[in-house]
Amino acid sequence: MKNLIVGQSGGPTAVINSSLYGVVKTALDCPEIDKVYGMQNGIEGFLKGTILDFEEALPGDKLELLKTTPGAYLGSCRYMLPDDLDDETYPKLFAKLEELEIAYFLYNGGNDSMDTVSKISRYAERVGSDIKVLGVPKTIDNDLVMTDHTPGFPSAARYVANTVREIVTDASVYETPAVTIIEIMGRHAGWLTAASALARRFEGDAPYLIYLPEVDFDLDDFVKRVEALLKDHNAVVVCVSEGINDADGKFICEYDSATGVDSFGHKMLAGAGKFLENLLRDKLGCKARSVEFNVSQRCSSALMSKTDQEEAIMAGRFGVESALQGETGYMIAFDRVSDYKIECSLQDVNKICNEEKKVPASMICDDGTDITQEFIDYCAPLIKGNVEVPTGEDGLPLFAYRTK
Ligand code: F6P
Repeated sequence: MKNLIVGQSGGPTAVINSSLYGVVKTALDCPEIDKVYGMQNGIEGFLKGTILDFEEALPGDKLELLKTTPGAYLGSCRYMLPDDLDDETYPKLFAKLEELEIAYFLYNGGNDSMDTVSKISRYAERVGSDIKVLGVPKTIDNDLVMTDHTPGFPSAARYVANTVREIVTDASVYETPAVTIIEIMGRHAGWLTAASALARRFEGDAPYLIYLPEVDFDLDDFVKRVEALLKDHNAVVVCVSEGINDADGKFICEYDSATGVDSFGHKMLAGAGKFLENLLRDKLGCKARSVEFNVSQRCSSALMSKTDQEEAIMAGRFGVESALQGETGYMIAFDRVSDYKIECSLQDVNKICNEEKKVPASMICDDGTDITQEFIDYCAPLIKGNVEVPTGEDGLPLFAYRTK
């Protein structure tokens, strides 16, 4: 009998806990696996010794609640292991794994988390350890390479499409012309912002402009386009990515705000929408407001995509099955085998970590202010299907909570 440990890392998604469910349920049902542990707050927490035993933490039916619980049940971290495999962190880490008799190590996260999987699997190989190390993907940014898409993106895209639709409806009530700028997450890849196009219901519908970080943003051109739109429309709705930047690579949010950096050294972005709102008021004297979706776009259980939930569970399950078959050093990827059917495959994690998949030019209109039908065809199947979230008599959702 051997044990399995699983951790979560990076920004949460609506279905990261569905993948956790897929891992834990498969492992608990597997006669070859004894204990199923969770790292609390990812590898950073594990190094500090904080783990939980799933049979104690979520006994019986309580485990089922994971499938509709947003956030990261185990807690998360933004922590990079040292690049140098000779660093003292690695023997310490492996001593802890041996102490817990871990044979299978699964890590659920995005690009930076796949870096952790890469380092641990390479160290295991170097020291001749038998531990199988696999990455289960997640990220609302949809920017992992070598996979059709990442769990978490479809639910966030569904949230974006639905909420943009609602905002367009709200913005259209007055006769007074006004501009609404919606800021959507995604530092360097505009997949999620592109999903705002799914909100359109008819030819010529809002959003009228969609700006991704893949395209250089020109402030003067933007103001001119909005001015022209205001001549024909009362409610001008524009969607921008948090990471829109000018031709020199400077983030638009940096024009007037002090941006910090997170522990990975990434700039913490916020404020592109607010900056543009103020710019339009100043240059055009029009009514303008900005809406920042912020974390709401990655934690909505109410708008979770059934397709996303099922695929996230499948990725977790496939991860455990692959580890049991002796696979290591891979990330679980999605292959689109037909329209619409996804199958899991294993892809070399070393070729995935620290890479970013951008929206390709073929999915962006020539003038850089909209997306093409190719993107709609790619994204539309992902957001389908409702998930019923268990709800209490008080009308609030029932989530799985970790007790400290
Ligand atoms: O994990 C991806 C993501 O949600 C990005 O879209 C966003 O830029 C970033 O995380 C925000 O990270 P945090 O919640 O750690 O500030």
